Amino acid sequence: MNILHIDSSILGDASASRGLTRDLVDTLVRTHPGADVVYRDLGASVAGHLDGELLAARSTPAELRSAESRARAEAADAVTREFFDADLIVLGAPMYNFGIPSQLKTWIDLVAVAGITFRYTEAGPRGLAGDKRVIIAATAGGQHAGLPSGAAHLDIGDPEEAEEELQVVDVGGAEGLSTGAAQRESALAAARNSVEAIVA
Ligand SMILES: Cc1cc2nc3c(=O)[nH]c(=O)nc-3n(C[C@H](O)[C@H](O)[C@H](O)COP(=O)(O)O)c2cc1C
Repeated sequence: MNILHIDSSILGDASASRGLTRDLVDTLVRTHPGADVVYRDLGASVAGHLDGELLAARSTPAELRSAESRARAEAADAVTREFFDADLIVLGAPMYNFGIPSQLKTWIDLVAVAGITFRYTEAGPRGLAGDKRVIIAATAGGQHAGLPSGAAHLDIGDPEEAEEELQVVDVGGAEGLSTGAAQRESALAAARNSVEAIVA
């Protein structure tokens, strides 16, 4: 099994989501001996925003690219390939300014490539990257349960309703992490406790 472990927190060792993704991956490796883990730290370095130059570089045949556009396209292709090769993705997704970190949005922009990882059909977009399970460790400083912001960020979705080829499971959404030490500890403990069940 190929595991892709992604962190996107900018808070380094103080990050809550980094601790949760580490617990998840440690448990997965323990329960799936022989699993290969690839790690990408989006919080440490952005892979390169999807701008006009990168878009053009990716759609230019390799032999016609400049040295700079070749380097950019190859770096972006490596990110896409990691996604493509993964059977299971463990994703740390903190809430910053009511959304995901811009680095994580950039990663999504790099892996969502029409004709490679998905295709448009009359019935809507369809995945081309094979069966994958995505486990998301979503964290937030405030309380968002019952609010549109909670539905968008923490209530990732019902796996039963997810696309057949993409199962999405929330780790339990640790929220209220900035509302006091006791709330932070109990929210993180609840999320950590759910790790074994999610992995099973
Ligand atoms: C720049 C920044 C913006 C934030 N914006 C929000 C926000 O909009 N809503 C919220 O509930 N918490 C917000 N927080 C708090 C984080 O969600 C909280 O610290 C959480 O633990 C982040 O996950 P992490 O520790 O893995 O980085 C913000 C934190 C930072 C550093």
